[in-house]
Amino acid sequence: MDHPSPHVLLFPLPIQSPINSMLHLAELFCLAGLQVTFLNTNHNQKLLLRHTNVESRFRQYPRFRFRTISDGLPEENPRSSVQFGELISSLQAVAEPFLREILLSSSSDGVTEPPVTCVIPDGLFYYAVDIGNEIGVPVIPFDTISPCCLWVYLCIPKLIQAEEIPFKGNDLDALFENVAGMQGLLRRRDFPFYRLIDYATDPYCQIALKEVESIPRSNGLILNTFEDLDGPLLSLIRSHCQQTYAIGPLHLHLKTKLAEKRMPISASSNSLWEEDHSSIQWLDAQPIESVIYVSFGSMATLSKEEILEFWHGLVNSGIRFLWVMRSNLLRGEESNHQFVKELSEGCKERAYIVSWAPQEKVLAHSAIGGFLTHSGWNSTMESIVQGKPMICWAVYVDQRVTSRFVGEVWKIGVDMKDICDRYIIEKMVKDLMVTNRDEFKKSAEKLSNLAKESVGDGGSSYNALQCLVDDVKKLGR
Ligand code: UDX
Repeated sequence: MDHPSPHVLLFPLPIQSPINSMLHLAELFCLAGLQVTFLNTNHNQKLLLRHTNVESRFRQYPRFRFRTISDGLPEENPRSSVQFGELISSLQAVAEPFLREILLSSSSDGVTEPPVTCVIPDGLFYYAVDIGNEIGVPVIPFDTISPCCLWVYLCIPKLIQAEEIPFKGNDLDALFENVAGMQGLLRRRDFPFYRLIDYATDPYCQIALKEVESIPRSNGLILNTFEDLDGPLLSLIRSHCQQTYAIGPLHLHLKTKLAEKRMPISASSNSLWEEDHSSIQWLDAQPIESVIYVSFGSMATLSKEEILEFWHGLVNSGIRFLWVMRSNLLRGEESNHQFVKELSEGCKERAYIVSWAPQEKVLAHSAIGGFLTHSGWNSTMESIVQGKPMICWAVYVDQRVTSRFVGEVWKIGVDMKDICDRYIIEKMVKDLMVTNRDEFKKSAEKLSNLAKESVGDGGSSYNALQCLVDDVKKLGR
């Protein structure tokens, strides 16, 4: 009997950060000679093709294909203000039958390609594990959130049993007792769903619980981290899923592999928005490590009051700043064009605003001395790789746990957590960029070096990727 050759189907969450990570993984798989299909939503694929060179970049890999499906929302829906939960469930209605069909067919496109032999969905697509098990195709979820948050998710059943959640009383500084490895560290205000009233009715907590249940039934777990950063937590996570591959930082891993193969490390953007490269020209004119980069990722929103507190805190600190103000950053508004224009008029000499930046290049720029971030996992990894200390304004889910780790465990920045006040912001900016700069820089640079070692020949992430590729190949035989 002929054995199928290995063919991986990657299926990211339909948002910027996971698309970015999964495209990096897709390219790493292509470099390892695997057949890869990348399943994107029609909406995001259009944006990706419009704003990036992804099509020509992947053309060099003849065994790579994009496939697209609807996200289940009407075409005319602007999506910028759609609730995440709504998007996830409308996509599920389309993705479930699609996955069944593609996994049952004897070829992935009905004509030329071999059948899919392994599915790599985002960890939140717990249903893909059940479909894979039902049809007999291995599934290895890729959890694109921070491993520290994933570990908290894995502890939720225990927290429910110990009656630590739902919270009793209003003390947000109370510590959790039943999250192993985080005793004395994790407060209620660091919990991914800190406004949690009732886990049984909280839609996000319910998805997290379903994800947790699906992990032991999967054939492995991929994480975008490295052993020297998350080693103790990885050991705990492995008690739920022995075959956990820590292969990050993925963007650095890809660059390293391309360099190893002497392939061009092109300007490889995966942006769903148009990158404004004038930000780099502006940085070119600024002194070394004089600028703090401000960005709240692709989804988080801020109220007008919060934006003003950040603005005044930054201006009053006297430090230069480059701020990404996405067109939908202002909560509840379709556009913040006029508001942003008025703000920027007020501080032209020391501030520069763009609506989307080439973030990896910005963080690599010598003029950048720190990062005021929402603590999204990709932003955190990108900052760690560049050795840039952070000020964290976490908004929701994994960001809340990650920011606690940045401040208290890795000690590469400060965690604002819940208090958005111009005086605090001014003080933290000065602290990071001037007063305690050397200390923060030293720990950030140390982690950056460890990240580089991990993806180099024989490093922990390098070996884990090799192991993942070998395992995927075995699954195909
Ligand atoms: C979302 C969730 O908010 C976060 O909690 C989770 O960890 C991942 O998914 P997102 O808002 O997309 O994250 O943030 P992040 O993980 O930081 O990813 C944003 C990506 O967009 C980064 O790779 C960053 O380089 C890129 N980016 C961001 C740009 O290229 N330009 C920008 O101007 C801003």
